[in-house]
Amino acid sequence: MTILVTGGAGYIGSHTCVELLCAGHGVVVVDNFCNSSEESVKRVERITGKRVKLYAGDIRDGKLLDKIFAENKIDSVIHFAGLKAVGESCAKPIEYYDNNLAGTLVLLDAMRRGGCKSIVFSSSATVYGTPEKLPLDENCAIGGTTNPYGTSKYFQEIMLRDVYASDNEWKVVLLRYFNPVGAHESGLIGEDPKGIPNNLTPYIAKVAIGELKEVGVFGNDYDTPDGTGVRDYIHVVDLAKGHVAAIEKTAKAGVYVYNLGTGIGYSVLDVIHAFEKACGHKLPYSVKPRRPGDIAACYADASKAEKELGWKATLGIEEMCASLWKWQTMNPKGYNK
Ligand code: NAD
Ligand code: UFG
Repeated sequence: MTILVTGGAGYIGSHTCVELLCAGHGVVVVDNFCNSSEESVKRVERITGKRVKLYAGDIRDGKLLDKIFAENKIDSVIHFAGLKAVGESCAKPIEYYDNNLAGTLVLLDAMRRGGCKSIVFSSSATVYGTPEKLPLDENCAIGGTTNPYGTSKYFQEIMLRDVYASDNEWKVVLLRYFNPVGAHESGLIGEDPKGIPNNLTPYIAKVAIGELKEVGVFGNDYDTPDGTGVRDYIHVVDLAKGHVAAIEKTAKAGVYVYNLGTGIGYSVLDVIHAFEKACGHKLPYSVKPRRPGDIAACYADASKAEKELGWKATLGIEEMCASLWKWQTMNPKGYNK
C-alpha cells in the first residue's frame, strides 16, 4: 500500500515511516516542519535504505494536498500533523484549533476529492479526561477535556465519526495513544523537543546529560503507590508498529477505536530510577507542587488492540530508557548538530 503520512517528519511520524517501509509499504510525507526538520526524513531513509517522497508544506493548503493525491495513488492516510503541547494550547487556543481542527477538515475534504476514504488518526488518552475507571478501555466516557489541545483531539474524533456517518465507505481508525517515549534502536531518530521539555522523559534525559540541573517531580501526594503521578509509557517503536497493524488489519469500512498502551502504570519515581539504570548514574530530583491539570493515574486496557489487530506492546521501561539515552548521547543537540 502507499500511505500518506501527515506530520511524518515528527517524533511518532518518523518512527512510523520506518515501520511502514520495513513492512513493504510506500511512504509519502507532508510536513511543514513547524516542530521538526527534514533531517529526520533523511535518517528514516538511512535506517531503511528506502526512499520517502517528501512534500514540504501545510496540510491546511488544499491545493498542495490535491497535488499530492493527483501525483500519488494514496491508499490510506495516517494523520499525525498537529500541534501537541498542552500548556501552549491554553495560551494559543486559536492557533491550536486552527491547526488541528481546520487542518483535519482541509485534509478530509482533499481526501474526498482525491477518492481516498481511509484514515488512521492520532488521538490521545487525553480524550478520556479524568478517567472514570482504571484501566481505561475504549468504552469509557470521553470528553471533559481540560485544555484546547485535548479538546481538539476530542472534536477531531467526533468530526471523523460524522464523516463516516455521512458516507459508510470511509474507514476511520482512531488510535488513542498513552505516553509515547523512547527512540529507534539505531539512535538515529528520536524526540527532539524545542527549548525546555514539558514531558517527563525528555526532561529526565536532559538532566542525565547535564544540560538541566534536576528533575522536578510534580507532586508526591497523589493517591498512587508512591504519591507521584502514574502513566502508561509505551515505546515509540511499539506505537509505530500499532499503526502498521491498524493499516493492515482493518479491512472493512467502519469506525474503529483502539487504545495503544502497555497496560502497565509507572510512577514518576519509577521512571527516574529506570533511567538511572540506563545512564549509569544517579539523577538529582526534587518534589515540586502539582502541575495544574494533571491527573493522578492513567493507564490502558490494551486488550482490544491485541484481540482485533494482533498487536501488543513488547518493549518495556528498560528498553524505553536505554533507547532514549542512546538517542540523547548520539544527538545531544537533537537534529541540529
Ligand atoms: P511532533 O510535533 O513531533 O509531530 C507532529 C508533526 O506534524 C511535526 O513534524 C510538525 O512539523 C507537523 N505539523 C504540525 N502542523 C502541521 C501542519 N499544519 N501541516 C503540516 N505539518 C504539520 O508530535 P508527535 O509527538 O510526533 O505527535 C504526533 C501526533 O500524535 C500529534 O497529532 C499528537 O497530538 C499525537 N499524540 C502525541 C502524543 C505524545 O505524547 N507525543 C500523545 C498522544 C497523541
Ligand atoms: N512530570 C513531572 N515532571 C516533569 C514532567 C512531568 O513530574 O518535568 C510528571 C507529570 O506530572 C505526570 C507524568 O510526569 O505525572 C507524565 O507527564 P508528561 O508531561 O510526560 O505526560 P502527560 O501524561 O501529562 O501527557 C502526555 C502528552 C499528552 C497526551 C498524554 C496522553 O503530553 O499530549 O500524554 O497520551 F495527551
